[in-house]
Amino acid sequence: MKEKVIILDFGSQYTQLIARRIRELNVYCEIQPYNQPIKEEEGLKAVILSGSPFSVKEENALKLPLKGLLGRYPVLAICYGAQLLADQLGGQVERSQKREYGKAHLHKLKQDDPLFQHVPESSQVWMSHADHILHLPKGYEVVAGTESIEVAAFRKREENSKQAVYGLQFHPEVSHTEYGKQLLKNFLRNIAGCKAEWTPASFVRETIENIRKQVGGEGVLLGLSGGVDSSVAAALLHRALGDQLVCFFIDNGLLRKGEYEEVLHSYRDMGLNIVGVDAKEEFYQALKGLSDPEAKRKAIGRTFVEVFQREAAKLPDIQWLAQGTIYPDVIESVSVHGPSVTIKSHHNVGGLPDILHLKIIEPLRMLFKDEVRRVGRELQLPEDILGRHPFPGPGLAIRILGEVTAEKVALLQEADAIFIGELRREGLYERVWQAATILLPIQSVGVMGDERTYEKTVVLRAVNSLDGMTAEWSRLPHDFLARVSNRIINQVHGINRVVYDISTKPPATIEWE
Ligand code: XMP
Repeated sequence: MKEKVIILDFGSQYTQLIARRIRELNVYCEIQPYNQPIKEEEGLKAVILSGSPFSVKEENALKLPLKGLLGRYPVLAICYGAQLLADQLGGQVERSQKREYGKAHLHKLKQDDPLFQHVPESSQVWMSHADHILHLPKGYEVVAGTESIEVAAFRKREENSKQAVYGLQFHPEVSHTEYGKQLLKNFLRNIAGCKAEWTPASFVRETIENIRKQVGGEGVLLGLSGGVDSSVAAALLHRALGDQLVCFFIDNGLLRKGEYEEVLHSYRDMGLNIVGVDAKEEFYQALKGLSDPEAKRKAIGRTFVEVFQREAAKLPDIQWLAQGTIYPDVIESVSVHGPSVTIKSHHNVGGLPDILHLKIIEPLRMLFKDEVRRVGRELQLPEDILGRHPFPGPGLAIRILGEVTAEKVALLQEADAIFIGELRREGLYERVWQAATILLPIQSVGVMGDERTYEKTVVLRAVNSLDGMTAEWSRLPHDFLARVSNRIINQVHGINRVVYDISTKPPATIEWE
């Protein structure tokens, strides 16, 4: 029976982090909105309540039906979750205008508590809260405090650990909480009784079994992008189904220099049944005359669907469309800012399943990016595929500002190949989360030998990030940048100026369009 933990999300910025920590401890978990009822399942071992940017004292605070939760599953309530329990069960929570944010020292008051096993008497924790608990509800007791708050951890212990309830005012999921991982481990093992057997190997085993059951003898089609997610999805499906899986790899003319050939080659080496489709001209035609970023994205999305549809029609007996969707795309987070605003439309191939009338299979749907990589390693995918920087679906089209032409693509490919090649040569590629070269639609004056030039500018962009949501520009060594700049200006005809982008996200974005 597969063990599972549910995290009820109250909109905290740390909710996904809780999930990642639990999974690092080899327990499978899922995030669901706080107000979605918990489905009874045999393997469900515990429920965790997340933090929240809201206050339990606000009039329309997010409430939780505690009946059906407490007493049925062991509960670990973090920050807002802990305050909510205290408040709803008859304790007292005090509203504060001031936020306690940062490190604090935790002192254990109960020496024998199983949640605090192997946690020293005093340790550092990370706080981020405004309200705090003044009085606990009846039946609850304090387990630990800090210098500024009395109730930093509390419990309701029961004979049957299924009924145990714990509340933590601090964040065990944040790395600044020294023994945070130990606390979560103790909760999972000592309180919830988890065996913690969820690993990349067990994921691969189970998923292969499920794929075989789901698909039977039918045909599956997958569009490869050259990126990590679709490659790992392909490898998994291939293990499960062999040549029942057919893959497309479409050359949209917007890939990096030599990428189409190289990637196609490594896919063939993996034994995939793959069809390479050269559709460069179609994409260039569709992009003709377009300079608005969203219009370019839409034209590329549309062309992709057309090409895919036409090629798919040539294959007999396909019933399934596989996609490399991953967990962050699926989680229905509680939104703090209301319905989210589209800043850039990232969904490159929306609508494909409906148009093709195929059933959908998404074997990585429940995995985070780092877990996808671990599964890829388990499947022995080549490191040069697993370690690749993220690359946007619309490719170089959104790195060429203004209208895209085959000539501009070729120019940018040359400059970009120099930048990426040097990053690799210097061992910097792995230390940067994503690197890109951008071609600007302006010309400027330069001098080459005795001649005046009037040519284009490229921007080098390199960022460090965890998930692309925020990003810091990479502090690449000046000598390195000088070398890249010299090589580009000397070797790529048509470019006489190279600049380095030193904008963080937010307020800038990683891509320029
Ligand atoms: P931004 O530019 O929004 O990028 O800071 C964040 C991450 O998303 C990638 N990106 C895209 N990926 N289709 C994609 O598949 C797109 O249209 C798209 N736009 C941006 C970007 O490369 C970065 O990793």
